[in-house]
Amino acid sequence: MRAVPAAIDDVLHRTIDGGGHVCVLTGAGMSAESGIPTFRGTHDSLWSRFDPMRLATAGAWREDPALVWGWYRWRMHRVREAQPNAGHRALAQLTRRVPLWLVTQNVDDLHERGGSTVDAHVHGNLFALRCFACGRAHEGPLDEYMDDAQRVEPMRCVACGDRIRPGVVWFGEALPEDAWTTAVDAATRCSLMLVVGTSGLVYPAAGLPALARRHGAVVVEINPELTALSADADHVWCATAAQALPLLAR
Ligand code: APR
Repeated sequence: MRAVPAAIDDVLHRTIDGGGHVCVLTGAGMSAESGIPTFRGTHDSLWSRFDPMRLATAGAWREDPALVWGWYRWRMHRVREAQPNAGHRALAQLTRRVPLWLVTQNVDDLHERGGSTVDAHVHGNLFALRCFACGRAHEGPLDEYMDDAQRVEPMRCVACGDRIRPGVVWFGEALPEDAWTTAVDAATRCSLMLVVGTSGLVYPAAGLPALARRHGAVVVEINPELTALSADADHVWCATAAQALPLLAR
């Protein structure tokens, strides 16, 4: 695959010529080519080692905080070891061609390290640590990562002594209000939405492409697989993030 499919190239040019904005919605597939496993992929997926509902919930944290914190320390370590891929870097370049809002479900910092400004981390940020009880941000150093540790006792809040949790949105928790407001605003105002690397299974984020379409945007999905969103996309580009986005950014 050497070129942008003509219909997608055309809608991008119409957006640029018309002074429109692009909203990019990314999911775990965006970081796959950086070596970060996706949630629901078969190969080495994050979940294949653990049961999702056992870990990414406040209930799991209350039941076994050391197991949950050990999983997140492993994920933080994987992210720290990873590098942004060509897709991350291309999105940073694409902003030179067209005004772009970046909304991500990803809790890693690879978009930022690839040169982008993220307008909305709708599922929070892995490294934004805070106290589980009083909510105070944890500004202190991170505990030492032990490569093979499955269970790691969480750090303690200097103010109230409760445990420090990751700043990610757990199943059943509300999305950060400002991030969600920004995401909805971007979806309703954009002329073109690029949906990159998400299975489209987790709401409300998965509802953003339909919201964009209802407000007149063209929706383009970039994914090597068909997803729950494909049937409602205007165009589906069967490609990976690192294959497709550099072609769009040219
Ligand atoms: N480039 C683009 N897409 C890819 C690539 C790639 N290199 N590799 C895999 N994909 C696609 C897969 O085909 C799949 O559709 O990325 C998608 C990953 O889907 P999930 O693993 O379900 O990740 P995501 O959609 O981001 O999950 C949404 O679920 O568990 C929660 O909070 C978590 O934010 C996450 C949310």
